[in-house]
Amino acid sequence: MDHFELRDGSLHAEDVALATIADAVGTPTYVYSTATIERHVRVFREGLEGVESGPEGPLIAFAVKANPNKAVLATLAAAGFGADVVSGGELMRARAAGIPANKIVFSGVGKTADEMALALREGIFQFNLESEPEAEMLSEVATTLGLTAPVAFRVNPDVEAGTHAKISTGGSEDKFGVPISRAMAAYARAAILPGLTVQGVAVHIGSQLTDLGPSRAAFSRVGALIAELRAAGHSIATADLGGGLGVPYDPAKPVPPSPAEYGAMVREVTAGWNVRLLFEPGRVIVGNAGVLLTRVIRVKQGETQPFLIVDAAMNDLIRPSLYEAYHAIRAVTPTGAQFTATVVGPICESGDTFAKRRTMDEVKDGDLVAFMTAGAYGATMASTYNSRGLTPEVMVSRHEWAIVRPRQTIESLISADSLPAWLEKETVA
Ligand code: LLP
Repeated sequence: MDHFELRDGSLHAEDVALATIADAVGTPTYVYSTATIERHVRVFREGLEGVESGPEGPLIAFAVKANPNKAVLATLAAAGFGADVVSGGELMRARAAGIPANKIVFSGVGKTADEMALALREGIFQFNLESEPEAEMLSEVATTLGLTAPVAFRVNPDVEAGTHAKISTGGSEDKFGVPISRAMAAYARAAILPGLTVQGVAVHIGSQLTDLGPSRAAFSRVGALIAELRAAGHSIATADLGGGLGVPYDPAKPVPPSPAEYGAMVREVTAGWNVRLLFEPGRVIVGNAGVLLTRVIRVKQGETQPFLIVDAAMNDLIRPSLYEAYHAIRAVTPTGAQFTATVVGPICESGDTFAKRRTMDEVKDGDLVAFMTAGAYGATMASTYNSRGLTPEVMVSRHEWAIVRPRQTIESLISADSLPAWLEKETVA
């Protein structure tokens, strides 16, 4: 459910007409709804009610990669969420938005010594280690700083997530985590490393999961591992079950499991684990809370079909090009008429296609169009390809709205480059 609805025939974000935002900010622009984010926070929490998670309850660490805008993170910080970060940059963003260090989990296969030192100094809640050499490095960095790193190993449970190959992470050929077959040895080694305190286990098998089966299988393996680790003398106090819950993108596809169904599965599988549970949801919190608002530049008649050329492009929203992802496309002021068109951006490659032969609201030159469910992995994956400035972001809360990131100007893009001395001379001459 989201708060993008037609009112008097025109698409609104909460109480604000998208057309008002487009007129003021220009297009393309991302628009986020605070009420939708807050609703998803509530629904996710409610879904987890009744899970056994110790006196503090579950730690819900928002996967910052899904949407790192400071206003989004601050909204989540106010709601009591922590953060799952995968770089020093994300860690600093989370802190800047007011997320306390003791609610931050650091994931990722390639943490550098500098990033480890930063996170250690901040005093984060947990490092999710993804390999044995990473454990050695973290211990060394921590020892040098005179600190101890609280760690979990992210295990690779070898289950197929059943999602797009590029966003599956829990198969034996994926780069993530320590193979579960080597976990006992990895923990045995970590336990004697001077800079580490082993506190938990972590798992994350992929994103946009639309079936609970693979997660259930992965979590069961984690449960068995916890028992084995305890039998070997490790004290396991946390279990991080990652993120991954899918959201509905295509109305023609079955609706993914709800947070309530996910929570019920977690409750069942984790009963008796006697740990604090951690979760790292990203998409399910912010996906439906954002749209990419764009204007039709022109409709071009091709050999066999119309091309709808919009002013957003693959640099602004890369999911369709990268994963053949589906985003619903709606007219901001629909007439009720429909047509079938291929929706493309202005970038000079055929991959700059949002939808092929899509039957959608009929629109004409100059009309506004919204790509729905663009709040997760939208702006955050944008680039400046074709020298297009980064898309602005706007946040709405009831009748108020604010620019939470301005459009990047071409001047700032150009001035970020500099010339080497030998070319500088030539330019002057
Ligand atoms: N935790 C870890 C360790 C992750 O790698 C991810 C996502 C998450 C949590 C959050 O997963 P979520 O709840 O959002 O599914 N760019 C792709 C998605 C990449 C996901 C990467 N990892 C897309 O646009 O579909």
